[in-house]
Amino acid sequence: MTDNARKITPDQLRSRWWFDNPEHPGTTALCIERYLNYGMTMGELTSGKPIIGIAQSGSDLTPCNRHHIELVKRVKDGIRAAGGVPFEFPMHPIHENVRRPTAALDRNLAYLGLVEVLHGYPLDGVVLTTGCDKTTPACLMAAATVNIPAIVLSGGPMLNGWREGERVGSGTIIWELRKRLAAGDIDYDEFLARGADSAPSIGHCNTMGTASSMNSMAEALGMSLPGSAMIPAPYKERAMVAYQTGERSVEMVWDDLRPSDILTREAFENAIMVCSALGGSSNAPVHINAIARHAGIELDNDDWQRLGHEIPLLANVMPAGVYLSEEFYCAGGVPAVMTELMGAGHLHGEVMTINGQTLADNVKGRETRDEDVIRRYANPLVEHAGFLNLKGNLFDSALMKTSVISPDFRRRFLSDPDDPNAFDGKVVVFDGSEDYHARIDDPALGIDERTILVMRGAGPVGHPGGAEVVNMQPPEALIKQGVESLPCLGDGRQSGTSGSPSILNASPEAAIGGGLALLESGDWLRVDLGRGEVRLKIDDDELKARRERLDTNGGYRYPAHQTPWQEIQRTLVEPLDRGMTLELATKYRDVARR
Ligand code: FES
Ligand code: MG
Repeated sequence: MTDNARKITPDQLRSRWWFDNPEHPGTTALCIERYLNYGMTMGELTSGKPIIGIAQSGSDLTPCNRHHIELVKRVKDGIRAAGGVPFEFPMHPIHENVRRPTAALDRNLAYLGLVEVLHGYPLDGVVLTTGCDKTTPACLMAAATVNIPAIVLSGGPMLNGWREGERVGSGTIIWELRKRLAAGDIDYDEFLARGADSAPSIGHCNTMGTASSMNSMAEALGMSLPGSAMIPAPYKERAMVAYQTGERSVEMVWDDLRPSDILTREAFENAIMVCSALGGSSNAPVHINAIARHAGIELDNDDWQRLGHEIPLLANVMPAGVYLSEEFYCAGGVPAVMTELMGAGHLHGEVMTINGQTLADNVKGRETRDEDVIRRYANPLVEHAGFLNLKGNLFDSALMKTSVISPDFRRRFLSDPDDPNAFDGKVVVFDGSEDYHARIDDPALGIDERTILVMRGAGPVGHPGGAEVVNMQPPEALIKQGVESLPCLGDGRQSGTSGSPSILNASPEAAIGGGLALLESGDWLRVDLGRGEVRLKIDDDELKARRERLDTNGGYRYPAHQTPWQEIQRTLVEPLDRGMTLELATKYRDVARR
């Protein structure tokens, strides 16, 4: 249990400085009076009850989280029952599918806004309502920076989507339908109707995309109640855990249990291993590295390869598997996966978690209830499910999920029959997604089944926020011939609901001088998975000459800023491998002091 030596008393509550501060009677009265004007009582504010903020991420603009508007009523009940006072406040909306140019642009903006609220208002603790992709990392980054007692409440995934007896998974179905539309199998109206089948209820994406991955990571880190991450949004257990989260948020204040007690290096290592076993989103390394940096812990993509690559895939959930998150929850959810990993000698079981108990205590006896949905460690879906961190003469870091490389891909790209890990391909280069859409079907590009499609100008500077566009579809003509995927390489991201075998997040990106800016269509690349390398097959002198030409021409060009925030973010943002954080923000720690 939590170390009682740290317990605090009512007069040590942070909120007292605002609401019960005889040394500053004027400012205290000014703080109190406006809360009374909507019916709060003096006693609620001045009698030493913890004030608990509820960061409301749901709104009409963020439908994946919108049910938090209802759910927080149970959070407030729990806070009241435990002797606290709830204060709900809005977060900047982030909706993955709708926000243009991309939702990731707003992760750092929501983070900054939340930091200011948690720093500047009389809050003793906070409940962080999460769901849609970037809402979870934004909340956890802010919790790490401010370091007041904080607990995550996921809104939970949608129920399973179905059509004609088949599961229909969020996002994943869109990638499939796009190919069928391109091949002429379905028309636009059917495309839309079938896509809508994937969203049968309230909640976030029901695949193991970025939303399910990041909420599972919040639980794996120890920042949400055990077993809570993947309760489907409409289930009664979702409202129950909302109540318990409210209760726990008050207890945490008295225990003075802070994010810095939980977000340790060991906790992040646990998150990496769990992410691999889940077949988690390729966005997870970006966000987990960012949360770690705000917690003062250096975590990089070498850590992801070292700790995660060997971990087998245990969660049989789309896009890597066949089931959806409702079945994953019913089979035991995140605790069942962690039980398997712990049984195999992985995970740091001794770490402290949000309920005051260790991870090992939390997962005890929580075995898989369906061994097809959550596999036993000895019977995984894939042996090595984590990311490789590739390097070479074009970038310092790029991620690849090797478990999705198909036998067909190996046959088409193998360069040396004696080396099963070395592949050669000729590149066709696109500058951003508009260029790709405009030209992909142009026969003059000469794209064939041995082409590697390259997307550059899609990192956080080239495309504000970093575009999820690296998983490019082959030209229609090739799809009609049966070539449904080509390997892709890029300095942007790809959707967590896509299972494409792409080389992603190449850092540094072309827009800040990264080597992808030097590529030309027709170049040959060697992808050597044994050595962990991607190399452009030209000699060093030619590479140097290209670099000089690029510099002389003023560097790689990218579109102008459209808003003030785009300019601020692009000026300060770090590469994807460093979490796409704002560097100056990562030095702030423990800013909750008055
Ligand atoms: Fe919001 Fe997937 S679009 S969770
Ligand atoms: Mg996405």
